[in-house]
Amino acid sequence: MGLLRTRSIADDLPFGARISGIDRESTFDPVVRAEVDAIFEERGLIVFEDVEPTNSMQAAITKMFGPGHAHAGELAVSEGDQVEGFIDLETNGISEVNGEHLSYYLPWHFDQWYSSKFIRAGVLRPISLPAEGGLTGFADGVQLYQAVSPELRARFETVNVLYDSDYLFWDMKFGRPRSYKQVRDSGSSAEKAAERANMRSVHPAIWQRPTGERVLHISPQQAAGIEGMETPEGDALLEAMCREIYAKMASYFHQWKETDMVIWDNSRFIHSVSGNSPDHVRKMRRTMIFAD
Ligand SMILES: [Fe+2]
Repeated sequence: MGLLRTRSIADDLPFGARISGIDRESTFDPVVRAEVDAIFEERGLIVFEDVEPTNSMQAAITKMFGPGHAHAGELAVSEGDQVEGFIDLETNGISEVNGEHLSYYLPWHFDQWYSSKFIRAGVLRPISLPAEGGLTGFADGVQLYQAVSPELRARFETVNVLYDSDYLFWDMKFGRPRSYKQVRDSGSSAEKAAERANMRSVHPAIWQRPTGERVLHISPQQAAGIEGMETPEGDALLEAMCREIYAKMASYFHQWKETDMVIWDNSRFIHSVSGNSPDHVRKMRRTMIFAD
C-alpha cells in the first residue's frame, strides 16, 4: 500500500474503483500487483487515472492481470496503429436511437460472446474522443443478481441463453430501445458481421464466482433465446428479464479522459456505449485478457 491512490468509483455503487499513481515501472512491482489484483477481484472494474496514454502502458497494465500474469497474449509494444493484440474500435455507422441520431451507440452486452476462448477482461483506452457523449456504461452482474425480482430470477437459475450473430446491431431481438434503426451502415461493422455470420454460442444466465457471489450475466444484444425454450413463452420470459435488468441496474457511465484506462471483468459485467454526435469520431483501443 502507499504507492497507489485508490477510491471508489462513486459513493453509491457497490462495484468499481479508481486508481491513480501507477506508472510502467510500478506495474512490475509485486506489491502493487497484489493490491491491484485484490481490488479487481472485489470491485470488478478499475479506472486507472492519469496514466501514460501509450500502447506500451496499455500492454503493461494488461499484463498485470490473469493467473501468472501471462494471459494477455503477445502484445507488441510499438506505438503505431494496427499492433498485434490491440483491437481498434470505431464506427462511422449511424443509428437512430429513440429518435436521436448517434454514432457508436452500443446496447448492453458482454464482449466476444462468440469466442471459444473465454475472455476474462478487457482493457480499454481512448484514441480519439468526441467533444461530448461517447460514455461507456458498466453494470455489475453481482448487483443485478441481487436487485432483480427473486421470482423472475428463479426462472433463470439453471438456464442457458443462446447468442446468435443474426441479432447483431439493429436486428437486436431482446431488450431493444423503444426505437432503434439503421441510418447509415458502417463498412467495418458489416464486415465484422459477415465474419461472424452464423455464429451461435451458449452462456449460463447465472453463474457463481469462486467467492460465492452469484452473477446475473445476460447480454441483451445478440441474445437469440433461452436454450431448449425457443418458444413464445421463453422469448417473453427473456424479454421480461432484459427489461428487469434495465430497470434495476445500478450503472456507472464513464466519461473518458485521454489519460484513462479501464479494465472490466467481462464475465461479471455487461457494458454499453452511449453514442455521440455523428459529427465526431470516437475511436478506442482494446486489449483482452484470456482466462485459463
Ligand atoms: Fe463491448
